[in-house]
Amino acid sequence: MKTYIVGNWKMNFTVGESSLFLHKLLQKVRIMRDLEVVVAPSLMALQPLSLQIDRRKMKLAAQNFYDKDFGAYTGEVSVSQIRSLVNYALVGHSERRYIFGETDKDVRAKVAAALRCGLTPILCVGETAEERACGETTDVVRDQVLGGLQDVSKEDLGKVIIAYEPVWAISGHGKPARVASPLDVEDVFKLIRKILSETYDDSVAESTPLLFGGSVKSLNAESYLSLPDCNGLLIGGASLIAPEFLDIIEIAKRVRDDRA
Ligand code: 13P
Repeated sequence: MKTYIVGNWKMNFTVGESSLFLHKLLQKVRIMRDLEVVVAPSLMALQPLSLQIDRRKMKLAAQNFYDKDFGAYTGEVSVSQIRSLVNYALVGHSERRYIFGETDKDVRAKVAAALRCGLTPILCVGETAEERACGETTDVVRDQVLGGLQDVSKEDLGKVIIAYEPVWAISGHGKPARVASPLDVEDVFKLIRKILSETYDDSVAESTPLLFGGSVKSLNAESYLSLPDCNGLLIGGASLIAPEFLDIIEIAKRVRDDRA
């Protein structure tokens, strides 16, 4: 299975800045067979960056889209409108769930739309600090995984990536984020594989890529990438700093080579 290093730029960079930043990355990122480097710029930047990117080195992801193809949906951008620009799409990010009120039903429709249009959905799941404190992590992760995948066949699950991003570990929301312990992350990865195995079967459960996200930096990237069930990282803040992001890519490559 590939290792995925995904940078979520969130609502940062103008189109011009995005292009300059991508240029910097493209100068340094090499073509690597088993390491997929993906960035998710703002929707505005997707079109120009899709012309600029070297898809042998890196791929693009959408941060968001609407699940209908065309029609009277003022202000929305459909998956059909972006399908030629990107290979991946984030779905169910906690910032979409908690700031913009997306429900598991919305998330499910988006996962289905992405698959219908040939994009790989990166389904994000994760509990809040309160839910963890109340011992609800297992239930929340189970509900979000099953809620998002409800309409996904076993065959299509092979095209889905799941990212575990505990909300309390995500930076940029006022109070300082907590850093997740690798042991806690591995517990949730195991839980997700168990849910997939019970719902589908062992082989798809084992082959679904699982990513971790939440305050990942070059300093702690290796501790997560070394986990037996970790297939990559979803990075916010550190993906906006070129040397940091490039270091994390190098670390991922080294961890992969060491494992081989
Ligand atoms: P940070 O890496 O800034 O904590 O963000 C994580 C995230 O939400 C990536 O999608």
